[in-house]
Amino acid sequence: MNTASAQANSTSSADAATKGAISIRNVTKIYDPDGVNVLAVEDCSIEIAPGEVCMIVGPSGCGKTTLLNAIAGFHSITSGQIDLDGEMLCGPGKPLADQGADRVVVFQNGALFPWKTLADNVAYGPIVQGTMTKAEAYGKAVDMLAEAGLSGVAGKYPGEVSSGMARRAEIVRALINDPKVLLLDEPYRAMDALTKSIMHESLLEVYDRTKVTIFFITHDLEEAIFLGDRVIVMTTRPARTKKIVDVKIERPRDYRLLSSEEFRVLVEETKGAVHEEAVKAFEAGERELA
Ligand SMILES: Nc1ncnc2c1ncn2[C@@H]1O[C@H](COP(=O)(O)OP(=O)(O)OP(=O)(O)O)[C@@H](O)[C@H]1O
Ligand SMILES: [Mg+2]
Repeated sequence: MNTASAQANSTSSADAATKGAISIRNVTKIYDPDGVNVLAVEDCSIEIAPGEVCMIVGPSGCGKTTLLNAIAGFHSITSGQIDLDGEMLCGPGKPLADQGADRVVVFQNGALFPWKTLADNVAYGPIVQGTMTKAEAYGKAVDMLAEAGLSGVAGKYPGEVSSGMARRAEIVRALINDPKVLLLDEPYRAMDALTKSIMHESLLEVYDRTKVTIFFITHDLEEAIFLGDRVIVMTTRPARTKKIVDVKIERPRDYRLLSSEEFRVLVEETKGAVHEEAVKAFEAGERELA
């Protein structure tokens, strides 16, 4: 599917967005080709529309993080091409994308500086990048934390707030430079169900305000359907697109959705595809051990 049709297929929530189109075309990644030679991603193509919430699911070790790292510029690709808004990030002659403030990553394990307050953490990026003065960055950080419902804890240190609050502050920090794309690698993995649900609502609020393109890796299929415009189910390694599930559920979404028939049907459809691939991964592992 090309970018135009990806746009046409996305829900109305993304219609206001004009930036953050990601085009992944025929991407292959081989780790250490002259040594262990791990084929992690093979001929993978995904078109993500500006402002789309694109959820990536697939068996453990299939190559999801590899793809995210290539978009972020942390790892090179072996062949293929990745573009952001029509500009090549990596591809022929340029295997490694530059890292840039237009793409920010939020990892599973959190990365706030424990010795800085939440407001100072959020203000840190623009200050070191020289895009804002200290006063501007701090003022914006305080405003953005307030928008995210964190005004009461802006002056606290990460160790003094709940893990959920710290996570929300991290998303705020990621967004202070108005990036085109937010790259999330299982950000809520270790959280209990209640905290997760608060995280989801908070992320959707942020999304409804910013319409930032979101590339979100998860193993939680309910999370994928609840948040996503589309869910891309990857094959077992090497990663390719196995199935695309369109989530044509209106936004804003809230937790009543979880008990709806429409939601359940989409979760089951996704589960079926992921399960098939997980079985293949398991059987491949058994063969390797045999
Ligand atoms: N630096 C590396 N060198 C060699 N192989 C690697 C390297 N990084 C990852 N791999 C291998 O590439 C494959 C894909 O890894 P990747 O981390 O992308 O999977 P994933 O889908 O994110 O898995 P998970 O769901 O467990 O996070 C795995 O087999 C992994 O062991
Ligand atoms: Mg991973």
